Amino acid sequence: MHVGIIMDGNGRWAQQRGLMRTQGHLEGLKAAKRIVKAASDRGVQYLTLYAFSTENWKRAAEETGFIMGLVKQYLRGEMNFYRQNRIRIRHAGDAAGLPPDIAAEIAAAVADTREFTGMQVILALNYGGRDELLRAVKRLAVQDRDMAAVTEDDIAACLDNPDVPDPDLIIRSAGEYRLSNFLLWEGAYAELYVSAKFWPDWTGDDLAEALDAYRGRDRRFGGIGEG
Ligand code: FPP
Repeated sequence: MHVGIIMDGNGRWAQQRGLMRTQGHLEGLKAAKRIVKAASDRGVQYLTLYAFSTENWKRAAEETGFIMGLVKQYLRGEMNFYRQNRIRIRHAGDAAGLPPDIAAEIAAAVADTREFTGMQVILALNYGGRDELLRAVKRLAVQDRDMAAVTEDDIAACLDNPDVPDPDLIIRSAGEYRLSNFLLWEGAYAELYVSAKFWPDWTGDDLAEALDAYRGRDRRFGGIGEG
C-alpha cells in the first residue's frame, strides 16, 4: 500500500500558540517521525511525505531556509532508525532546484538506503505535480521517439520514481480539501482523507484512523464495481 501525506497546518498550529511559524515546522518534523514509525509498524510499503512544494519558495527566506535545515537534520538524525528498520529513502521533485548541500544530503541518504527492502519513504521536496509532469515530458522528448505514439505508460515511466506504485490513499491534515499540486498524475484514483487536525498534532492513532477509513472505501477505478 502507498500512502501520500500533505502535512499541512504547521503555521496555524504555531500561530494558535503565539509561536513562530518555524516552531510549527519543528513540531511538524517530530510528527513526521512518529508517522514514519507508525506507518512502518502498520505495514505501509510506500509513504510519500509532501515536505516542500515548488510553490513554497514564495515564503520568506527565513522560513524556507529553516525547513531545508530540518530536512538535513531529519536525514542525519534518522539514519540509524532507517538502518534498523531497513527503510529506503527516496526523493521526488526537482533536485536541481534545491540548495546544493540539501541535494547532496538527499542523494547520500538515497544511496545509503538503496538496498533496504522495508518501507520506502519518498520525500517530496521541491516537488510539484505539474513540474514532475513537465520534467517527464522533457525526458521523453530527448528520447527521440515518435511523440504521436506516446502512451500513458511511456509518460509514467519518465516520472521521478517510475517503479513506485500509484498512491492508494492521500491524507491531508489541517482541514483543506485540495491537492495543492501533489501527485497529480499518480493520484488519479487515490482515495482522499482529510483530517481537521493540524499536522504537529498527528500521532500514530490518526494514521490508524485514516487507514481504517480507507479500508471501508469502495474503489472502482472508473468501473462499476461488484455491487
Ligand atoms: C505545511 O504547513 C507544511 C510545510 C510547508 C512544511 C512541512 C515540513 C515539515 C513537516 C518538516 C520537514 C519534514 C520532513 C519529513 C523532512 P504550513 O506552513 O503551510 O501551515 P499553514 O497552512 O497552517 O500555514
